[in-house]
Amino acid sequence: MFKNTITLPLIALAFALAGAAVLAFDLNLKEQAKQAQPLVVDGKIGESEYQNHLRVDGIQMDLYWSIQSDRIYVGLHAPGRGWVAIGFDPEGPIMQGADIVIGYVKDGKLFLQDSYANVPTGHQADTELGGRDDILEKAGSQGADGTVLEFSRKLDTRDKFDKPIREGKPMAILMAYAEDADFTSYHSKTRARVQSVDFFQANSKANETPPLWVASHLEAYELGLIAWIIVLGIFAIQGFISVRLEGRELKPGHFIPARESTISVIFTALLTVLELVWAVQFISSLYEGARPAVVATYGALLAFTLAAILLVYRQSFVSAETIVQEREDHIPW
Ligand code: HEM
Repeated sequence: MFKNTITLPLIALAFALAGAAVLAFDLNLKEQAKQAQPLVVDGKIGESEYQNHLRVDGIQMDLYWSIQSDRIYVGLHAPGRGWVAIGFDPEGPIMQGADIVIGYVKDGKLFLQDSYANVPTGHQADTELGGRDDILEKAGSQGADGTVLEFSRKLDTRDKFDKPIREGKPMAILMAYAEDADFTSYHSKTRARVQSVDFFQANSKANETPPLWVASHLEAYELGLIAWIIVLGIFAIQGFISVRLEGRELKPGHFIPARESTISVIFTALLTVLELVWAVQFISSLYEGARPAVVATYGALLAFTLAAILLVYRQSFVSAETIVQEREDHIPW
């Protein structure tokens, strides 16, 4: 005879909680390691070296930056082996008025210029225009996936050919790279973009570094742990509900629905409306291409509300009959 028992759900819950504790500890360690990565201007951009990251769509360029006291640290990455550049706060037309930092790596050596777009389609070194070179640290490297530049400067250099980076409002920036390793070649239309960036808005849309728990950032063993927690958690919850509804030991006989009332009807109707709301949200989040976490949340709400409807329905409206007999499923337990 089958006996409903609370022991198995309790054991499952204990293992699920142990799994959750291990996962929390592990993610915490990773987060600490992430925060501990120092900012070094060495021509290499570490995965979590910078606080902010902007992927410039369409030209495969990346902008990284961190602000520390009165300095900004910038990392640029672009495909190819030619020059790579950023231009702050252009006035127009085209590039005119932009405070440009441009650089390239040739024969393992870095060439980097603090520059200014004194004409709409070109630029000149600040030093040649009567200004200063305000780059404090610089480094660059080249690899199979392109060229990396890193530099730091003061947020406000007070040079008339530099634009101050101030808190409170987004700034237009130019991002471009070229095929040639010099300071003068044209980039072509396909390798230049204008972007708007609020350098102080750490959690702005520009900050695309997803949280650690996003699936693509999890290791296989962490995904395994999550599966472990979910499976054992569901087993435990289902066990508790089963014991709650059926009692510890199934009693043969006929069960009249316990709580059939107007309240149950209203409750079921409300849950059904909620289920419809989640369904609409779930489908529209899929169509809008929302973040996986949002889609998953609506999916989970959908599933849990459905489970609640079934539970209320079962408790309130369904009469049940228990027939006790020997199991004949030929499974040896
Ligand atoms: C090195 C010499 C350069 C030359 C000869 C040059 C030339 C030009 C020309 C002719 C245009 C207008 C046509 C077009 O949209 O492509 C343009 C636009 C543009 N350039 Fe440059 N450029 C130079 C450097 C730079 C640098 C260093 C940057 C980045 C910091 C840059 C960023 C841009 C951007 C973003 C646009 C598009 C502007 C817009 O759409 O309003 N250029 N450039």
